[in-house]
Amino acid sequence: MTAPPEVHVLAGPAEVAAAAARILVEAVRASGHVALSGGSTPAAAYAGAADALDDWRGGTLWFGDERAVPPDDPLSNYRMAELSLLERLAPERRPAVQRIGGEHGAEAAAAEYEVRLREHLGDRPRLDLALMGIGPDAHTASLFPARPEVDERKRLVVAVPEAGMDPRVPRVSMTLPVFNAAALVVFLIAGQDKAQAVRRAFGKEADAAAPAAHVRPQDGRLLVLCDEAAAAEL
Ligand code: 6PG
Repeated sequence: MTAPPEVHVLAGPAEVAAAAARILVEAVRASGHVALSGGSTPAAAYAGAADALDDWRGGTLWFGDERAVPPDDPLSNYRMAELSLLERLAPERRPAVQRIGGEHGAEAAAAEYEVRLREHLGDRPRLDLALMGIGPDAHTASLFPARPEVDERKRLVVAVPEAGMDPRVPRVSMTLPVFNAAALVVFLIAGQDKAQAVRRAFGKEADAAAPAAHVRPQDGRLLVLCDEAAAAEL
């Protein structure tokens, strides 16, 4: 049964990050499989989680999406997680990290990641936690409006040759079947520039043209952590 979004409006970005950090720590403590979100909003949540828990062994970190760049590229979502989270942990207490090999190009990286995901979690992978963000255009992960990848229902991971927003580099993205099979999906959202997207994705009249409106876990929870600015149009 698809549960409706549980929208929590928090004072500001710091409160959103703190709430997300608590959820991430709980998932790692339970040795969960977690898909991290990219972009910039999550960095504070990752740092807070690393400061709150020093032993991440047992947890497995996946990536909901990645840019098709090397892991040391400033655009890399892996690099953002490395700087904000992994480097804050002692090497011997870090989680298993399933990095998307963006340096191999979007198509090859997507194909390889799908094989790895199926090997580890089966053909209907159920993540324990998927952390997600939303763009001002209501994209999520690298699923952009009016692009074919949003409609993918068979493949678990796809190449996205043309990103609909900056950075306009080819991407790799998990698809809606993966996000909608997760036990818990948590959106981290802050800023006035997201207010329209939040309304389109999580408001009373969800907009089918908004990719984030299609993230509705079939047998799980959907938690939307947003600050007052991002919730202004709800
Ligand atoms: C990416 C992200 C993307 C992100 C949104 C929001 O690779 O860019 O996965 O989907 O979550 O663009 O980004 P911010 O939270 O940084 O605004």
